[in-house]
Formats: sequence, C-alpha cells, structure tokens
Amino acid sequence: MPVRINPSILAADFAHLARELDRISSADAVHVDVMDNHFVPNLTFGIPVVERLLQVTELPLDMHLMITDVDRWAPSFAELGVFSVTFHAEATDEPVALARRLRQIGARAGLAIKPGTPVEPYLEVLDEFDQLLVMTVEPGFGGQSFMPETMGKLVAAREVASRSGLDVWLQVDGGINLQTIEVAARAGADTFVAGSSVFGADDAGEQVGLLRQKALEHTHVA
Ligand code: DX5
Ligand code: ZN
Repeated sequence: MPVRINPSILAADFAHLARELDRISSADAVHVDVMDNHFVPNLTFGIPVVERLLQVTELPLDMHLMITDVDRWAPSFAELGVFSVTFHAEATDEPVALARRLRQIGARAGLAIKPGTPVEPYLEVLDEFDQLLVMTVEPGFGGQSFMPETMGKLVAAREVASRSGLDVWLQVDGGINLQTIEVAARAGADTFVAGSSVFGADDAGEQVGLLRQKALEHTHVA
C-alpha cells in the first residue's frame, strides 16, 4: 500500500513560506490549514495566501478547511487549482453534494471528522470522496497530542474501503510523529499530516523520509 506524507505549514515559519516549502520538496503534498475563528477558535490562511503558494511550489496543495461556511468557500479553493479540498462533515448538511461539486471543478474531495464525530454515517457514502480525514486531535492548533481512541474509526473505514474496493485515501492529522505514525498506519491510514514533527526537525526533508519509512514498515494488513 503506498503511503503519503503531507507536512502541515501551520508549523512552518510564516515569514519564509517559500523557503519552508523548499525544505519539504520530498513530501507528497503540502497540507494547508484554513481556519475561520468560528469552526475552530483560531484564524489562519485565506484565498490570497493560497494563490501565492500555488505560484511558488510544485507540490500539490492539500487544503484542510476548518471553517463553517464550506458551501461557499470549498468551491472557491477548488477553483484556484489546488489538488484536494477537505471540508468538515460537521460544517455541512450536504456533504455528498459538496463533494460532487468539488470533483466537478477538478479537485479531489475530502471529508474530515472531528474526534467526537462517529464515522458510521459516512461509511455508506465513502465512494463519493477521494479522501477521509480522521482527526487525531481536536482541530484548531498544532502541537497537540495524538488521540489513540480515534483509531477505531480508521479500522472501520479501512475495512469498508477494502471490502468495496474503493481507492479512498485515509488521512490522519494531529500529533503525528515517528511513534504515533506506526499506530495510525497499522489502523489503516495511508496519508499522514505532520506539522511540528516535520518543521520542528533540523532536517525537515530527512524527517519526511523517516516518517515515510515508519509508515511503510507498519502498513495495515487486513
Ligand atoms: C490542527 C491542524 C493540523 C496541525 C497538525 O487543527 O489541522 O494540520 O497542523 O499539527 P501537528 O502535527 O503539530 O499536530
Ligand atoms: Zn490539518
């Protein structure tokens, strides 16, 4: 099973974003956390920053929208030409309709769920998404500790994906480091977001490689 490592620029030096992206050229994508101070108690990037990032990096942009008004904003991000747009299930009543819109625009569609949100209601519509993001911390801030109690949701999603032959990527985000990545990989994740553990390392590129190696060593077996 292929694995993907997506560093989160929430932990990067915002005064030198282009330089920070050069440090992670071996990554699979750049994870960009958009927060609106409504869905989560924090504020980060918006459209103009993402437009500029697209001009300075070859890496695909993996957008994670932690915002309430996804029906308005998710398509706007997709139209910029980003690789994937992940919105929260808790933020819309029509996740399938929104995913279809995103795919139609040409972006991969992702559905995210907070630690307290059950995965079951979404398993039956998993084929409508390219990616399921199981949050492994409460969204809003980097540098928090991984919550192992979220792993059951990955196991369940992996089971459905395998059984139905779906090529849906299972992403984890929050507190991923060289230890916790093993746990998440074993539970069925194949796409790993890591902020502090990558940008906090002296050699961010090397850290991406080490994370990738750990994930591959502990990849899920049915
Ligand atoms: C948290 C964000 C994460 C965050 C992860 O709300 O969605 O992407 O950057 O940071 P670490 O890896 O430091 O937990
Ligand atoms: Zn994120």
